[in-house]
Amino acid sequence: MSQPLEIAGLADPVPPLGVGTWAWGDKGTWGMGGYDTDLTTASIREAWEASLAAGVTFFDTAEVYGDGESERIIGSMLADDRSAGTDRSGVVIATKFMPYPWRFNVRSALLASARASIDRLGIDRIDLYQIHGPTSLRSHAALADALAAAHEAGLVQAVGVSNYSIKEMAAIAAQLERRGLRLATNQIEYSLLRRRPETGGLLAACRDLGVVPLAYSPIGQGRLTGKYSAANPPPGRRGFSAHPMALVDRVVDELRRIGATHGDRTPSQVALNWLMAKGTLPIPGAKNRKQAEENAGALGWSLSDDDVAALDEAALEGTSSLQNRFWQHG
Ligand SMILES: NC(=O)c1ccc[n+]([C@@H]2O[C@H](COP(=O)([O-])OP(=O)(O)OC[C@H]3O[C@@H](n4cnc5c(N)ncnc54)[C@H](OP(=O)(O)O)[C@@H]3O)[C@@H](O)[C@H]2O)c1
Repeated sequence: MSQPLEIAGLADPVPPLGVGTWAWGDKGTWGMGGYDTDLTTASIREAWEASLAAGVTFFDTAEVYGDGESERIIGSMLADDRSAGTDRSGVVIATKFMPYPWRFNVRSALLASARASIDRLGIDRIDLYQIHGPTSLRSHAALADALAAAHEAGLVQAVGVSNYSIKEMAAIAAQLERRGLRLATNQIEYSLLRRRPETGGLLAACRDLGVVPLAYSPIGQGRLTGKYSAANPPPGRRGFSAHPMALVDRVVDELRRIGATHGDRTPSQVALNWLMAKGTLPIPGAKNRKQAEENAGALGWSLSDDDVAALDEAALEGTSSLQNRFWQHG
């Protein structure tokens, strides 16, 4: 059964499943005010509440999601809850600093970004602060310095990275260690549509370093839920690990087959359970109550070893890390 995960730097273990909030406030990719007219502040509030009610308390956002709008929305949920007297002290907020190449003074840029995120979120301190990708022109030492300064200033509690290769992760972990900090997490695209982090050794490297892998786009940006198919492709831009839908359909067939043997678990629940079985913390996006409740249904039960092996067999390798460098600000 999936157990809470220890994240270096956080006082308490976190549930092994979170929520990704890229879609919250994002107009371009996910359709807020665009193709998806059902994505509204009210539907997001329902997703927020349904997640928390199910014990899913870890929320991932970024300064670039909807240009800060995703953080603002989370801030307004927390503020409303505070006014209603609801205790949200168990909520864990992870956000990210975008290391644009032109942010050459990375220390002052990161400190300013962390303060701006804290303002938008309306919190005292960021629980987990992640470098969004290895795109800085500055050294690992300079980035580690900036993270250590934010930690020392009390702006952030735990520190992580995202989209880092094995080599990059080891390098920044070593630099952080010199400054008395542990690298807590590496957020990567990992799903049945992109098994590469496992087959390429990144997961094993995370284990060796005590780094928790956060699996992003864990249900293939909706393509592993079973609602899309070759005959009914997803709307909008779902560019990560963009396989022909006919190949995705085969993976979904296997998810359905295995789900049926566990009391009608849905394809999303099986896909998320597989990621938890691998020791990662998946952060599926949820736009409404139904999606949040369904995704939370990945908790509380486990795939058998045979199921995991069958899914390993069905999984697609996905894009290389180099291609993933051009991730779309997700
Ligand atoms: N660090 C990075 O570079 C990076 C990159 C990408 C993502 N991320 C993070 O990872 C999170 C999740 O990734 P993601 O949003 O790209 O992809 P995802 O979690 O695989 O897919 C989320 C989308 O799938 C659909 N969906 C979710 N649950 C569903 C359900 N139960 N039934 C049917 N449809 C469902 C929704 O879109 P529709 O309803 O429109 O289909 C939802 O927006 C992001 O929110 C973000 O926090 C990070």
